[in-house]
Amino acid sequence: MIAGRTNKSISPPSRPSDPIGVFDSGVGGLSVLRELEKLLPHERFIFFADQAFVPYGEKTPAELIDRTSRITRFLLHQRCKAVVVGCNTATCYAIGQLRQRFSIPFIGVVPAVKPACEQTRSGVVGVISTPATARSRALRDLVRRFAGAIRVIRIGCPGLEEVVEGGGTTGPVLDAILKTRLAPIRAAGADIIVLGCTHYPFLRSRIAKIAGARTLDSGKAVARQTRIIIESRNMLRASGLGTATFYTTNDPVRFARVASKLLRRRVVARAARV
Ligand code: DGL
Repeated sequence: MIAGRTNKSISPPSRPSDPIGVFDSGVGGLSVLRELEKLLPHERFIFFADQAFVPYGEKTPAELIDRTSRITRFLLHQRCKAVVVGCNTATCYAIGQLRQRFSIPFIGVVPAVKPACEQTRSGVVGVISTPATARSRALRDLVRRFAGAIRVIRIGCPGLEEVVEGGGTTGPVLDAILKTRLAPIRAAGADIIVLGCTHYPFLRSRIAKIAGARTLDSGKAVARQTRIIIESRNMLRASGLGTATFYTTNDPVRFARVASKLLRRRVVARAARV
């Protein structure tokens, strides 16, 4: 099927036993999945990593809409009752189009600008993200809506997601990137760093240490929002064993190795092409 054509008419009605889809360009969305699993322990999750196309942070809006539409079709064929866009970049550039094209509910991830601006004491907040999210209108709008008198410094961090994709969460390469990228935020006196990319929660301790600030991400809020949406549609799976099935558009063995490390449990993955 051609990405871009509407699918609204062919979505079959959902049942509580149907799975919830979660996708990202890669392993970053696992930081969202682990929060979803805590709050929705009986659900069946299908996690889709578009690793043949990582990084999303360097794709055009048209490419992002195309990739995310293809992934959504795959998830619909698996009968998903809702889709969590476990990626800030895809949410910023594609979720509007996805909502127009498909009738199932989408839950997106955006940088936690609002809580950060409410909680800062120094009056300065740093937001780190992919380059695409940093320059997005969606992030600009969030800042305009919620920052008020708070100074919000937005920094795009190319290369950071690649460290996590390789399974690295510490080390000299990571520290060197972080020192460079976080320098302006540190110099400005930010006391909160918003992790505006779902790969970054896996780097939380290094980011907090090098920035000398506390970190905030959106994982828990997304899980809460997903539960609200699922419950409001009477789609909650309230009993039974929760499960997760993993797909990647790249090497499933490599994905499984890194995902097992990040989730601290044994993960098996399958290859998928969309
Ligand atoms: N994890 C993604 C995000 O939250 C994107 C990383 C990438 O592929 O550039 O934006």
